[in-house]
Amino acid sequence: AEFCGLQHSHMAVLVIAEAPADFERWAASQRGDALTPADPDAAAGQVAFLAKPCSACHTVRATAAKGTTGPDLTHVGGRQTIAAGLLETTRGSLAAWIA
Ligand code: HEC
Repeated sequence: AEFCGLQHSHMAVLVIAEAPADFERWAASQRGDALTPADPDAAAGQVAFLAKPCSACHTVRATAAKGTTGPDLTHVGGRQTIAAGLLETTRGSLAAWIA
């Protein structure tokens, strides 16, 4: 809706061309609730997230996290980047961002 340059607030945009059916599948998955954590590390992360103040500012759909100050983090782990394209989404970049 609005793009005022690469540097302003790091408004980087990654455009991925998809066949319409593939796009609809992706869009539907993004509208869906968070998945139940699949392994012990992810489950421990969810417990920590909900126990810390994160949920005061962030929503993760289908959990108790309902904050609206920060971005919705429901599918953050499935994104290629965080911080408006500044950082590739890796375990390390997420840890550094949170720290
Ligand atoms: C006081 C409000 C607040 C709290 C508490 C908070 N955040 Fe955030 N968070 C934000 C805001 C605002 C942004 C967006 C910052 C920006 O884009 O410059 C953000 C961004 C993020 C991002 C990057 C999202 C993206 O789309 O790039 C992650 C990941 C994140 N926060 C995780 C956490 C975690 C985990 C916690 C708890 C340990 C937490 N936050 C606590 C407000 C908060």
